Amino acid sequence: MLDQRIGLPTVLAPSTMHYSWPKAASLLGLGQDNLLTVEVDLEARAKLGHRKEILQRCKKEMRPVILDVAVLGSTELSSVDPLASMLALRDRFARDNFFYPVHVDAAWGGVLRGDAPVDGERRRNRGVRQGVHHPPTS
Ligand SMILES: Cc1ncc(COP(=O)(O)O)c(C=O)c1O
Repeated sequence: MLDQRIGLPTVLAPSTMHYSWPKAASLLGLGQDNLLTVEVDLEARAKLGHRKEILQRCKKEMRPVILDVAVLGSTELSSVDPLASMLALRDRFARDNFFYPVHVDAAWGGVLRGDAPVDGERRRNRGVRQGVHHPPTS
């Protein structure tokens, strides 16, 4: 029997997440209440501080985090979450024996992964390309 102290499984995703995430949480029986929303800043990028707060709470409540979702190119705003910082945060929690995978949702932004031939274009897409450079789920 499962340890009764273990909390409900959780997924973290930014408020810019695509509507398919809450739908998937329902369909898979996770429950939308266990899809925890990370606040975003004025550029619609997920706030690292808020993410850290949620993760600390999950750790304290012994809630397994089954995915921490980075959106690399949100559907409405094309905003790009700070993936490198999220991976650093994941590594910090892992050193503290709290493990979770980071999942990159590049369903929209992934199209910008390719190298654009024009310099200006390259600069504009740099955030996405640097983010997508990491493995999709690690
Ligand atoms: C950021 C993002 N995630 C997920 C999806 C859902 O993709 P699919 O319909 O292929 O499951 C979309 C669709 O536009 C999207 O923009």
